[in-house]
Amino acid sequence: MPTRREILKKSSVAAAIVAAPAFVRGQNLNSKIQLASIGSDGKGWSDTEAMAMHDTVEHVSFCDVDLNRTLKVKRLQPDAPIYQNFQEMLAAEGDKIDAVTVSTPDHMHAFCSIAAMRAGKHVYCQKPLTHNVWESRQVSKMAKKAGVITRLGNQIHSHQYYRTAVELIQSGRIGKVTRVHSWVGTTGHGRSGLLDRPAVEEPIPDTLDWDSWIGVAPMRPYGGARVYHPFTWRDWQEFGGGALGDFGCHIFDPVFTALKITEAPTNIQADHTGINDEVWPAQCTVNYTMPGTELTADSSFKLTWYDGGRTPNKKGSHIPGDRVLPSSGSMLIGEMGTLIIPHVGKPQLYFKDAAASTEFEMAEGKNHYHGWVDGCLGKEQPSDGFDYGALLTETVQLGNVAFRFRGKTLEWDSKNMKVTNIDEANPWLTREYRKGWEIQPV
Ligand SMILES: NC(=O)c1ccc[n+]([C@@H]2O[C@H](COP(=O)([O-])OP(=O)(O)OC[C@H]3O[C@@H](n4cnc5c(N)ncnc54)[C@H](O)[C@@H]3O)[C@@H](O)[C@H]2O)c1
Repeated sequence: MPTRREILKKSSVAAAIVAAPAFVRGQNLNSKIQLASIGSDGKGWSDTEAMAMHDTVEHVSFCDVDLNRTLKVKRLQPDAPIYQNFQEMLAAEGDKIDAVTVSTPDHMHAFCSIAAMRAGKHVYCQKPLTHNVWESRQVSKMAKKAGVITRLGNQIHSHQYYRTAVELIQSGRIGKVTRVHSWVGTTGHGRSGLLDRPAVEEPIPDTLDWDSWIGVAPMRPYGGARVYHPFTWRDWQEFGGGALGDFGCHIFDPVFTALKITEAPTNIQADHTGINDEVWPAQCTVNYTMPGTELTADSSFKLTWYDGGRTPNKKGSHIPGDRVLPSSGSMLIGEMGTLIIPHVGKPQLYFKDAAASTEFEMAEGKNHYHGWVDGCLGKEQPSDGFDYGALLTETVQLGNVAFRFRGKTLEWDSKNMKVTNIDEANPWLTREYRKGWEIQPV
């Protein structure tokens, strides 16, 4: 039996579809951009605040499933309406909205982004772009079909440190690249302190719309504060992506941009400290074989990911033995030298020739958030739109698929979106969507 709230929700969405306004804001912008945010605290607040600093941006509505997490946005724009369900927001306020930012937990990125793009809105979506590989394809297809301006919320992409690293590689400073290692200090679980779902059911706070928080995932009881919401959802397979899901898109970003990678890995093999049905492994390693590019020495190269305290060996690099690696970052080994890209720090150069200069000019940093707003106004797509975001995310989420087949090598046919040698891996490329929260293929 549907609740009154569900009936109201459905009828308001249906009414909005029937009574489409004569002019719907969206792609046809004047000099002002009317923004709505989905997710109002945590990263959602810093996204909202950063966008609001752009001269032409006005927030016309906000959405957060948890009313306790809307105090900051209320102060920012006291007259803007606040919704707990973003479909209700889109239905009721869609004619005022040009663009949206999506800063929800990962499992809702695709659902929110696709709905917003279908309605013709430009979208800035947090990393990873989606929670699984199939969703990444749908999101990038939708962006193309809708012709909207998109950007992945990897704000460090525009930071002068990452832009400098890209310039150093592309100017040939270390020669052609032969090997890449990327790592993060963070563990795959441990934020909630749990390895399994809580045994005791906790009452849902009045201020929280738990049904909308769960969204596409199978319903489960609200676990209590900081079991899933806020922030700790990262630990859990149904909602987040562990350390690789959380940091992979950030840390691979300067590697993919610098090496001009436009194709997915061809095979993936993972090792870790153990996985159950609920949380991601504590410590992982993923070995990717990547197609080579004009900036790599060979037609393919090895890219290895480490997390949870695992770090690469410096063997084969040009880094002196006594030099400590940063806690997170990437190491690109070239024919003439090695580049370290700390996450986030000034790049470091090391050369075979001890007399070679390790000095370099710093690139100019840009405002990532405002770059997207300017793109929406000028109809200019930044190079790190959802196409690029989908490739980074595919790479990351394939690692998360490989964790389920520890030690085995998954042969990946990206064009046909299929693991060709292990059939049982293919169901993990997508998920079963909760009734009423399905994502229609684009
Ligand atoms: N780019 C970065 O540096 C960076 C840093 C942190 C987090 N992130 C990303 O930002 C996103 C949010 O992470 P977080 O750490 O802020 O999580 P969080 O749980 O702390 O905050 C998420 C916010 O969204 C709200 N929310 C949850 N589901 C919602 C829904 N369906 N509709 C509307 N609002 C909803 C929550 O109430 C909360 O206010 C994630 O995708 C994460 O990967 C990016």
